[in-house]
Amino acid sequence: MRVLRLFNNKVGRTDGIINYYECAMFMKGHAFMAFIELRDVYKTYNSGANEVRAVDGISFEMNKGEFVVVVGPSGAGKTTLLNILGGMDAASGGDAIIDGQNIAKFNRKQLTKFRREDVGFVFQFYNLVQNLTALENVELAVQATKKKNRKIRDNADARIIATNPEDRKNLSPEEVLEKVGLSERRNNFPAQLSGGEQQRVSIARALAKNPKLLLCDEPTGALDYQTGKSILKLLWQSCRDTKMTVIVITHNKAITPMADRVIRIKNGKVCEEYVNEYPVPTEEIEW
Ligand SMILES: Nc1ncnc2c1ncn2[C@@H]1O[C@H](COP(=O)(O)OP(=O)(O)OP(=O)(O)O)[C@@H](O)[C@H]1O
Ligand SMILES: [Mg+2]
Repeated sequence: MRVLRLFNNKVGRTDGIINYYECAMFMKGHAFMAFIELRDVYKTYNSGANEVRAVDGISFEMNKGEFVVVVGPSGAGKTTLLNILGGMDAASGGDAIIDGQNIAKFNRKQLTKFRREDVGFVFQFYNLVQNLTALENVELAVQATKKKNRKIRDNADARIIATNPEDRKNLSPEEVLEKVGLSERRNNFPAQLSGGEQQRVSIARALAKNPKLLLCDEPTGALDYQTGKSILKLLWQSCRDTKMTVIVITHNKAITPMADRVIRIKNGKVCEEYVNEYPVPTEEIEW
């Protein structure tokens, strides 16, 4: 009924009659469409005589702005799935529709643009450039994107940009480092930072691009319990602040209660999927 009313308001009709085509056209491009939709995606690797089905017919949907945890044992296909979602690896079959575009059909040039502008990555071992400072690492990521670079002069301006999901311009590297609590360490090299601080730099690097999608592969895997929790909290807060869709991959089932949506995979297939109506605050998660 609500959809009908919204639709009729939109087209200025009051008779309440809509046909299927009109409804579909209205819903296209609106919040009703999933932000990510995977349809029967698979990925095979040929290693010698053996064929490995790393991803074996995965389908799911997730909405814009959700904090999603993908959980599964070692070898389940989590990283392969993340690489497909991030345009780093091509699926062998199926459709991967992200924000209305089927990236499984993208050519190399389109994939490069997608990776550069729309996706931020956070890896288990940070992957920072060792001979660049924290600030330079973040600046490098911003320079690599072709999005219009706008100088942000004050926090209020940064907040406006950060809360507008349709205006995803790059953020100021200095501001983002401040947001992750590392202003004081901006001139330090990665080797001079703790694991948790390096992971914060890598999150700042991803956030500075202001991507639509943030993909994190075992982001707390190399960290101790407390530091791991603070990183999860930072990712969750960034998701809420910027309306970015965040996918965290982990083998740690204990963090699933903090997610909006949980996808459990095993042997390259989805074995369970559910939505947490009331996600648990990160502070209450124990493992
Ligand atoms: N490039 C590759 N060539 C051949 N096999 C591969 C390749 N990449 C991954 N695989 C295989 O695909 C399967 C899934 O691997 P993947 O790295 O996606 O698992 P994972 O769930 O991320 O595991 P982990 O928790 O250990 O990181 C594994 O059996 C792996 O050996
Ligand atoms: Mg992995």
